Amino acid sequence: MSDEQSTPRRLPAIKPVERRTFLRYSLIGSTAAGLGFFGLASLGFLWPRVGEGFGAELVVGNAEELLDEIRTERAPVHFPEGRLYVIEWDPSVPGAQDAYGADHEAILDDTTGLQAVFQRCVHLGCTVPWCQSSQWFECPCHGSRYNRWAEYTDGPASRGLDRFPSRIDDNGDLVVDTAVVLTGPSRTGNVLQQSPEGPACIDA
Ligand code: FES
Repeated sequence: MSDEQSTPRRLPAIKPVERRTFLRYSLIGSTAAGLGFFGLASLGFLWPRVGEGFGAELVVGNAEELLDEIRTERAPVHFPEGRLYVIEWDPSVPGAQDAYGADHEAILDDTTGLQAVFQRCVHLGCTVPWCQSSQWFECPCHGSRYNRWAEYTDGPASRGLDRFPSRIDDNGDLVVDTAVVLTGPSRTGNVLQQSPEGPACIDA
């Protein structure tokens, strides 16, 4: 046996990681992971998610029946699968055709149309509930309010609620394309000029 074979080789010494260094890297790692998770969760909350029906063309229901329900209940029809409300609008109101006619093809007659309104507040993304007493949409998060046509009335929101293109198909069903978000009307684009019809649901 040669000297080279018989002499045991020593492995290079591995420097132990100091406890303080280990704790520092652990803290940095867990903070980064937490921030990443929070960021993704926030994006998921604010951003439209594709899936669960949302993000595709959706059949909401028979257009005449939706109109009946809106009139009977004096409230928009909420369709959570599409994150939207169906509202009635009147294309014969001065300025309405110019404001909405091009994007909302769900017209039943000269004075009756349907629109699909995104339920998400344009301020910071809360879901905006309908207030039956005022006949307005009222956001409980920071007080933005929108009239029956989801046009801006007051609060910190920068515009009226966003919408989706809609049409009535050959079966008479309202079809809404939730893949396309139409920017809501500007703060000054209040065509309906509807005053609240009763007490507010939130403190202004
Ligand atoms: S999120 Fe609706 S007012 Fe702020």
